Amino acid sequence: MPQLATDSEILTDLAELRAVVEVALAERLVFDAGCPSRLAEAMRYAVLAPGKRLRPLLVLLAARACGGSVERAMPAACAVEFIHAYSLVHDDLPAMDDDDLRRGMPTCHKKFDEATAILVGDALQSRAFEVIASELTPASVAARGCAALGKATGATMLVGGQADDLAGATAGDDLARLQAIHHRKTAAMILVSLELGALTAEATAEQHKALAAYGERFGQVFQITDDLLDARGDATQVGKRVGKDADRGKLTYTTLVGIEESRRLVEGLVAEAQAVLDVFGDVAEPLRMLARRLVDRDK
Ligand code: IPE
Ligand code: IPE
Ligand code: MG
Ligand code: MG
Ligand code: MG
Repeated sequence: MPQLATDSEILTDLAELRAVVEVALAERLVFDAGCPSRLAEAMRYAVLAPGKRLRPLLVLLAARACGGSVERAMPAACAVEFIHAYSLVHDDLPAMDDDDLRRGMPTCHKKFDEATAILVGDALQSRAFEVIASELTPASVAARGCAALGKATGATMLVGGQADDLAGATAGDDLARLQAIHHRKTAAMILVSLELGALTAEATAEQHKALAAYGERFGQVFQITDDLLDARGDATQVGKRVGKDADRGKLTYTTLVGIEESRRLVEGLVAEAQAVLDVFGDVAEPLRMLARRLVDRDK
């Protein structure tokens, strides 16, 4: 891609990448006769609903920043969105956050039924690893990608973070506990998205390190602003119910440090996230913009 000069050119580029991701996701959600049609329909419903596709974009932009190609990174971009969509379907279940609205549409278990929603999550998780294992090349990159994704989505990271999140707030909770939950339930998926993009581009150790520094901050900001949207956002705009975290006694930045301090932390982390990308120069400008746009996001 030629050197990007203006914000509007970067936004156009991001919109184009998103459109390519939509097609790539749909192509990988076509199953043969062994898959019950209702299950396939529910999987497509959950994934192809209008999500922001932030994690796939991070995969593709990280690959590009490291000198790699969008085409080569696309299987990894699809895999992280499959895992993300599964995590949302399960997060919304009555036994978890018990939500009825997701991406502006009824949640998967409301549209279909609970058993189907559980199975959608199971099948999407398998599909993610199948796509990475069978489509990433060379085989060593596929193997490392599977291992990284397994770690990021497993018991110590995404799933462990979700377990601690569900335990709710208790007396004596502090910022360190909250950051640990955010690191695992949210930042781990952001970090592995960047790592997978870098892997497909055969990035240097320095590039991996810079992306990890960016991802940790991006991930924290992403969950803080998600919590702010829950506290202050508009459900129609956000596409999911708001005001739920307080009702459920969740440990969030807004409950622990308040809205103003949360906003201040966001500004600082975003400035850091942008700065750690210096090693890439201009080619990382889209990643810098994504971080910047988190500050005022309304969905
Ligand atoms: C929501 O993620 C879940 C969190 C980790 C906060 P997104 O806000 O990226 O959801 P979609 O993919 O755009 O629906
Ligand atoms: C957890 O955060 C997101 C996942 C890891 C799936 P939330 O429970 O706050 O996500 P939303 O607000 O339902 O999207
Ligand atoms: Mg949750
Ligand atoms: Mg939730
Ligand atoms: Mg939330």
